[in-house]
Amino acid sequence: MGKEIVLSGIRATGNLHLGNYYGALSKFVRMQDDYDCLFFIADLHALTTSPDPKQLHENVKNIICEYLAAGLDPEKATIFVQSDVPEIPELYLLLNMHVGIGELMRTASFKDKARKQLGIKSESEDIEKEIIGTDSNKRVNAGLLTYPTLMAVDILIQKAHKVPVGKDQEQHLELTRRFARRFNSFYGVDLFPEPTNFDFGGAPVKVPGLDGSGKMGKSEGNCIYLIDDEKVLRKKVMRATTDTGPTEPGQAVSAPVENLFTLLELTSTPEVVKHYRDAYADCSIRYGDLKKQLAEDILKVTLPIRERYMEIRGDEEYLGRVVKAGAEKARERASKTLKEAREIMGIRKFY
Ligand code: TRP
Repeated sequence: MGKEIVLSGIRATGNLHLGNYYGALSKFVRMQDDYDCLFFIADLHALTTSPDPKQLHENVKNIICEYLAAGLDPEKATIFVQSDVPEIPELYLLLNMHVGIGELMRTASFKDKARKQLGIKSESEDIEKEIIGTDSNKRVNAGLLTYPTLMAVDILIQKAHKVPVGKDQEQHLELTRRFARRFNSFYGVDLFPEPTNFDFGGAPVKVPGLDGSGKMGKSEGNCIYLIDDEKVLRKKVMRATTDTGPTEPGQAVSAPVENLFTLLELTSTPEVVKHYRDAYADCSIRYGDLKKQLAEDILKVTLPIRERYMEIRGDEEYLGRVVKAGAEKARERASKTLKEAREIMGIRKFY
């Protein structure tokens, strides 16, 4: 008791990759002992962009298994599925009464995704007009607009203090604080704490992709999944983008090759990294060797996860137990907060 409450979630839109692992999952694992942790799968959020009834449940299941395989321990942390907590959608409706459509429309992630849904390419084009539009076939769903409300509720309903998320989620966290403050001050209460990002100290981890571009991401087809098998993983690494190789000693490293070094730094030992850095500097490097080494070192991280994943996935009974216990714990707090919010807002029963 008395530990700070930490909460974070991952959208159920596919398997987790090495970027998710170093950016989030491995940190969650380290936090379990020191904080009162809740980690969940945001399946309702997934519906805002990819409603696919054939895929949704599988996606949720994959992520739970990946959470557990990577070392999240249901004895220590509360692991649950968002849609198992009906208090969340109810509070989402209530909180929306205090959220402005303007502030939601100005959110960067909304503008981005709305542009995609409308098929607008240029950044400069004014999307507000397009959103109101006239063509009923082209629409931006209201769930996408209110995505930040739902995320705020995930956090506020558990009264979380710390929310470990990446840079791309900072704005959502800022909105969460604003909504909490607004609710508290409108009703003259102190219901919701204002959550902050979790500061791990040091530079943020950057996990680059294999295609020479920026970071590893599900949508970019440049990533290594935690559950890739040996063959697939080796093939992906061997096909990673490089260049024609250094021609002068001490030459600057190109971006795609630097990405491979960054991945090596994450997964390998300092000696190995130094070996290849030196080989680059004196032009003796062979990218084939570097890639073979990189594949081996990545496999050392991912294979044990893959093996546990396979075991857990096959054990429906265990999974069911974990998810049920998580839902119960999550609902216990959520229903308390919801009850308080309803009372504060003046919702009372006649019977
Ligand atoms: N929006 C987050 C993402 O895309 C996922 C998320 C949903 C979340 N609800 C949350 C993260 C609450 C932290 C806390 O990654």
